[in-house]
Amino acid sequence: MPATIVVGTQWGDEGKGRVIDNLAEQSQMVVRFQGGNNAGHTIVNEAGEFKFHLIPSGILYPHVTAMIGNGVVIDPRVLCQEIDALKARGYDCGNLRISSNAHLIMPYHILLDSAHETQLGKRKIGTTRRGIGPAYTDKAARLGIRVQDLTDKKILRQKLDTAIGEKNDLLEKVYNSPGVDPFEVMEQYAHFADELASYIADTSLLIDKALKRGEKVLFEGAQGTMLDIDHGTYPFVTSSNPIAGAACVGAGVGPTAIDEVIGVCKAYTTRVGEGPFPTELDGALGDHFVNRGAEYGTTTGRKRRCGWLDLVVLKYAVRLNGLTGLAITKLDVLSNLDQINFCSMYEYEHDGACENFTDFPPHQSMFYHCRPVYQTLPGWKEDISGARKLSELPPEARDYLKLISEEAGVPVRIVSVGPGRDETVEM
Ligand code: GDP
Ligand code: IMO
Ligand code: MG
Repeated sequence: MPATIVVGTQWGDEGKGRVIDNLAEQSQMVVRFQGGNNAGHTIVNEAGEFKFHLIPSGILYPHVTAMIGNGVVIDPRVLCQEIDALKARGYDCGNLRISSNAHLIMPYHILLDSAHETQLGKRKIGTTRRGIGPAYTDKAARLGIRVQDLTDKKILRQKLDTAIGEKNDLLEKVYNSPGVDPFEVMEQYAHFADELASYIADTSLLIDKALKRGEKVLFEGAQGTMLDIDHGTYPFVTSSNPIAGAACVGAGVGPTAIDEVIGVCKAYTTRVGEGPFPTELDGALGDHFVNRGAEYGTTTGRKRRCGWLDLVVLKYAVRLNGLTGLAITKLDVLSNLDQINFCSMYEYEHDGACENFTDFPPHQSMFYHCRPVYQTLPGWKEDISGARKLSELPPEARDYLKLISEEAGVPVRIVSVGPGRDETVEM
């Protein structure tokens, strides 16, 4: 697995951080390639729990170089806080590198994200309000400010002056809310520049050199396939491409460098924010997943919407990402259920006719109106969190894994049965 991409196959929070942490033990480099601090990746090891929003999940291993690629949008305040928090826990972050081409989230991006959500009212997307959408908008509009601009205060001031006038007009005149003070922003960002200067690097070149030395490089996706701006449940998506193809763009490597793509799939489904979710469960069963799986957002603390595994979504993710392997997480959360439902296709009623979809529907309106068709497997009652070998799982749990692998047409490479680093079943 010299170059392996790890992506979410659902709506995010599949357990990508813990899977990266497992794989990073045998790797030399971990690269985040998109998203920003909308992400929240959790790792639990002997030192306790770590929640990363921008810092790549490999940082805890001193032998791993942890890179923030050019495709990420960076809020320097959050990054500085994360670095300080890690330092306070004894990690010096000397193994962190930040792409000079990555774009910065500015204070006005955060204000615009919130103002826009508030204005949308009932039609809101349910963003994390971290400024992600407005930062990617400015990148595409060529109004963005990049990490390298921090290294030249004159350029930083020029770019800030260009951007801030327009943003303050937007905030004050369109959204009726206060703008930002350019002098204050300049002062804050000059401070972040000093804090971050030593980490800035040509990350694409470093990755290329590592691959040429035959080292193992992991590309860490944030969010998930169904939040992809092109292929997800638009407009209820994020503003980047969390799918595997984006790893090449967001890290600066060619597609021929990639050897494997691992899709992380929760044994059930969760979603934070608004938007369609066919297998969503209300009531006691939904609460079972929330409580057993501790399903509260890592970034915003919002309660996650929960439902059964959706194989139509999983097969879509296999196709879009070219998955070569699956990591099934949180299998332990399904213990103690009489039966396990999984959605094998959708029914779509329209003009008195009923159409079945085993592939993801081509139109959002269809997806909105699709009803899940469930199949069932028997559940298991045992606590499986102590299982470390496939043979230590109850036959019902093994059957469920077999079914997922067969339906997806992709082998299961990793199974996790608890949040801890060692709570992994050897495949
Ligand atoms: P990510 O955004 O994909 O990295 O996932 P999050 O960290 O946001 O959410 C996953 C949550 O599930 C975290 O709280 C993890 O500690 C926890 N977790 C990961 N794997 C397992 C598992 O196998 N079992 C249980 N019970 N919890 C897990
Ligand atoms: P990780 O990497 C789950 C969701 C938000 C919202 C939508 C758009 O931890 O899996 P944004 O702030 O990106 O403009 O919000 O995307 N979202 C996530 N949901 N996990 C994430 O990241 C997410 N990042 C964004 O809740 O619905
Ligand atoms: Mg998360």
